[in-house]
Amino acid sequence: MNLILLGPPGAGKGTQAKRLVDKRGLVQLSTGDMLRAEVIQGTTLGREAKRVMDAGQLVSDQILIDMIADRIDDPSCRNGVVLDGFPRTEAQAEALSQMLKKHGKKIDVVIELVVDEKALIERITGRFSCKICGTGYHDLFQPPKLAGRCDVCGSEEFVRRADDNEATVKARLLAYHAQTAPILPYYRARGLLKQVDGMAPPDQVALQIDSILTGVN
Ligand code: AP5
Repeated sequence: MNLILLGPPGAGKGTQAKRLVDKRGLVQLSTGDMLRAEVIQGTTLGREAKRVMDAGQLVSDQILIDMIADRIDDPSCRNGVVLDGFPRTEAQAEALSQMLKKHGKKIDVVIELVVDEKALIERITGRFSCKICGTGYHDLFQPPKLAGRCDVCGSEEFVRRADDNEATVKARLLAYHAQTAPILPYYRARGLLKQVDGMAPPDQVALQIDSILTGVN
């Protein structure tokens, strides 16, 4: 099964994608994570992407399309993928459809996480993760059990994303409305779009997604 998680920054796409990896054996393709890996490696692409990401804008379509095309044919994706952060424009949506068609595959369902945007800034600006194992935390909603120490690996090093500040989140929301929300009608017209209440607690969001996917299978 191939599915797309859609929603504004902080809607919970990454949180739910990881659960789908654990529960259904899907491969998570997160374009944000791929770009951040390029930034950490200090590649030319990473340096260019960092400038755009820190401004809360979208990296160019062709870069992202090539990135996904490289990954989606990998044998590890045979059981299906959960796309998190891609597509984000109409050009990316169309390119995705073409690249899947070429390999006899298709998108089975697109799930929109519907959220109250007032909650997103608080969700995003409080987010941090363990530098060593990547476990995610939140200052208010999900602090480590022992302050300053990762619950999973015991590390005392944590990181915050450079774009997780209020000014950049506002720019990211503007980009979402201008460039990404317009692809919702594209998927609705193809009968693929389903909505879940992204304001529910994560376990309940996961249950809503599960019931949609049970209907798709
Ligand atoms: P990307 O990394 O994709 O960021 P994003 O879309 O802004 O989404 P986030 O990762 O911030 O949020 P999320 O929806 O995954 O929420 P999460 O689960 O983490 O992209 C970053 C940048 O890269 C873009 O701005 C752009 O520049 C570039 N880029 C990436 N893809 C691109 C593309 N295709 N084209 C062009 N440019 C691209 O949750 C957020 C927080 O809320 C966490 O603390 C979490 O614990 C908490 N939370 C989650 N669910 C709930 C819940 N139900 N209730 C309460 N709290 C919750």
